[in-house]
Amino acid sequence: MVTKFFYTSEIYKDKAQDIANFLGMSACSGPIKNDRAHLVFGESGLSFFHPEARAKNPFNLDFQTGSSGWRLKRADHEKLIKKALGKSDKPLKILDCTAGLIQDSLLFLTLGHHVTAIEQSKILFLLLQDAVNRSKETHNELFKNFSLIHGNACSFVQNADDFDVIYYDPMYPPSKKSALGSGQLEYLSKILEVEQISNEPQMDFEVLQLMPVNKMIVKRPIKAEPFNPSINYQVSGKTTRFDVYI
Ligand SMILES: C[S@@+](CC[C@H](N)C(=O)[O-])C[C@H]1O[C@@H](n2cnc3c(N)ncnc32)[C@H](O)[C@@H]1O
Repeated sequence: MVTKFFYTSEIYKDKAQDIANFLGMSACSGPIKNDRAHLVFGESGLSFFHPEARAKNPFNLDFQTGSSGWRLKRADHEKLIKKALGKSDKPLKILDCTAGLIQDSLLFLTLGHHVTAIEQSKILFLLLQDAVNRSKETHNELFKNFSLIHGNACSFVQNADDFDVIYYDPMYPPSKKSALGSGQLEYLSKILEVEQISNEPQMDFEVLQLMPVNKMIVKRPIKAEPFNPSINYQVSGKTTRFDVYI
């Protein structure tokens, strides 16, 4: 687990302690030491630091710059996701079982859909919640149809009868070339490592597939075996594939 939770100034003490309570921790003032993984709450909101991450700055999510940034960068990805979702006259209710950095949830939201995203990591959930709250000041419209839940999506099967689509994007198996492709992904892995969270995607898939929805979309590396061969259709990009089960 993270060893310390710091706040950068007395004005952040109460808010920092509120957040730390969720992790069963006490927030303390500095000096901040960078030799251990830690969380810090201050002027940029909540950040996570890991001494072994290549990025030397603490990891902090910021969706305020995202509306142009991440969307433009992911135009191809957006085309694939649109194809996988298919046409719909009305906004879809999507359950994103693997919130992660909510990049895919953000795409669904910008396409006009309603999204509930689930994240199993407490730290990532807190980082997301903090970033979403900060963004609501400037991007309230984008997040008005968004809810974030902490937990394992597999425990949610009983409550999933209100969704049209479930989306599942488990962590890719580590590969020499791409596992550390982006600093953000490396931080995501470090967070899961610190919390000692590991998944069996095949087993999770089998549980999630029991959810009574019209469509399940599963994101896979292009060459990976499907979790279940009875795919209804596939949408493939250069490195990624969406397997769609109806
Ligand atoms: C590859 S990332 C998802 C990236 C995400 N689609 C995005 O656009 O940023 C996988 C994330 O899903 C979470 N996760 C994996 N299995 C889960 C499960 N069964 N329930 C909840 N969260 C899960 C992991 O903790 C990790 O944060």
